[in-house]
Amino acid sequence: MSIKDYNLAAFALNVENFSTDLTTIDTAHMFMIFSLVIALKPYKLLELGVGKGYATQAMLAGIKYNGVGSLTCVDNLADYCNAEPPFYSDLRRQGVKIIAPVPEMSFVFSCTDKFDFIMSDADHEKSGLWAEMTNALLNPGGIMCFHDIGDVYPNSKLVLEMVEKHGYSKMLFDANTRPDERCERGFLVVKKDK
Ligand SMILES: C[S@@+](CC[C@H](N)C(=O)[O-])C[C@H]1O[C@@H](n2cnc3c(N)ncnc32)[C@H](O)[C@@H]1O
Repeated sequence: MSIKDYNLAAFALNVENFSTDLTTIDTAHMFMIFSLVIALKPYKLLELGVGKGYATQAMLAGIKYNGVGSLTCVDNLADYCNAEPPFYSDLRRQGVKIIAPVPEMSFVFSCTDKFDFIMSDADHEKSGLWAEMTNALLNPGGIMCFHDIGDVYPNSKLVLEMVEKHGYSKMLFDANTRPDERCERGFLVVKKDK
């Protein structure tokens, strides 16, 4: 089977289309999500905050490459005036379970499932307040990523505090080298050490 069959090349070749929208994650961090997924091989993935779906596409490309994995996405549709954007039907066709419109807090406090990979980019003002609940949704050995862990959202400090309290391995990626990226917003990768 060629690499194209795994959708890896298709993902990489499209990358120039992904870097301009400031509401999305940066291209560098998209590649990181994709790489983490193809390296970790998670079976259950959760995305909090779909936005334009760029991180979603990175996870889906990883799932396709791996040949295993199911993705659940949660969004309150605040960025879409409470109406589902048309691309949601395409995500559903690709097997994504979409839970919307549902606020992140309601989902995190009521969810009884566990996940191997969590991408958090929804309620930037408040998600730090329930960082411990998000952590509880992640299986040991799993990875959770948090976008916008910078100075803009004061409560994002609470995410870092939670991670440090548990002593999990972590790395915050916030360096830019290109004029078209805004990585300073901060992309935190955390491994829930067993
Ligand atoms: C910045 S966008 C996510 C961008 C996405 N990571 C990407 O790369 O395209 C944030 C998303 O979270 C959703 N959102 C905002 N507040 C939320 C909340 N309290 N609960 C659930 N979703 C929320 C918005 O509707 C929006 O779709």
